[in-house]
Amino acid sequence: MHRATAIAHPNIAFIKYWGHADAALHVPANPSISMVLDCLQTRTTVDFRVLRKDEVIIDGITASPAARTRVSEHLDRVRALAGSDLRARVRSESNFAVGAGLASSASAFAALTLAATTALGLDLPLQQLSALARLGSGSACRSIPGGFVEWMVHPDRSATARSIAPPEHWALCDCIALVSTRHKKVSSIRGHEAAPSSPLHTARVRDATLQAPACRQAIERRNLAALGRIAERDAVMMHAVAMTSAPPIYYWTAETMRVVRAVIEWREAGLPVYYTIDAGPNIHCLCEAAHRDEVQRRLASLPGVEQVLVACPGGGAQLADDHVS
Ligand code: DP6
Repeated sequence: MHRATAIAHPNIAFIKYWGHADAALHVPANPSISMVLDCLQTRTTVDFRVLRKDEVIIDGITASPAARTRVSEHLDRVRALAGSDLRARVRSESNFAVGAGLASSASAFAALTLAATTALGLDLPLQQLSALARLGSGSACRSIPGGFVEWMVHPDRSATARSIAPPEHWALCDCIALVSTRHKKVSSIRGHEAAPSSPLHTARVRDATLQAPACRQAIERRNLAALGRIAERDAVMMHAVAMTSAPPIYYWTAETMRVVRAVIEWREAGLPVYYTIDAGPNIHCLCEAAHRDEVQRRLASLPGVEQVLVACPGGGAQLADDHVS
């Protein structure tokens, strides 16, 4: 039996990965820090058999040729490690919109990596599993460990992700205001490639590297004001880099800006809430558990907000209870 099922969650970065030091190995230009999002998840079953080619079904639909190739290339890495030439049937399901800037590639490649390695009998240590997931999608390396995770870049240009605090360390909430769940027009792959063409890129990479220790400390001390300031600034800088790249990439819409302004107003009026935005128009609003319901209610009442998802710190990638069937 060469079959296994794994579950992984996406993550939201407070300091973003945007641009590479080594594109082929998905080594980022700067360290990043994120939180695993518990209630969003991807569940992936990998079943290796004698087939002519890999078959990939995502959310019940046969994957596009480009998506299938990306999955197959990742399976090739696992096959090479295990010394196998079996092809696989891959079935992946997410409980949230894929490709809408909710880091679906992170949960997808984290779950795929754990399921595929287990199915071929490999029992990799966490660090190796995370490094392998990174080759599928950079941010996936931050969805292998649980809780609050730092993805470090080392002087020899290697990169590793490790948990800096478990999920129960801090009841931080991410209230995600969905203003669009359509598939994003420009993939983050193109964004990473284009980043160095922005004159702001070098300055952001330097700033993100300098801010990483303060971000880690804010998490360790459960200091939302410090974390929020760092997260908002880096999100705006990442998008400033995207908007000034060649060609320019605009992920924000009018609705994005409306939510950003509302969050700033609420905060000025005393509600401790901060925002960050990934490679899409949706807004992640960070607050503590005590203010979660209020933030969710206010976001839901804003025009243009279709839905509000609420996530707390989640665990790392895991095999499903019924993982071999
Ligand atoms: C904006 O991990 O999706 O979410 O390595 O090309 O798969 P690839 O990129 P990806 O980039 C994530 C970009 C981001 C910021 C972040 O999560 O750090």
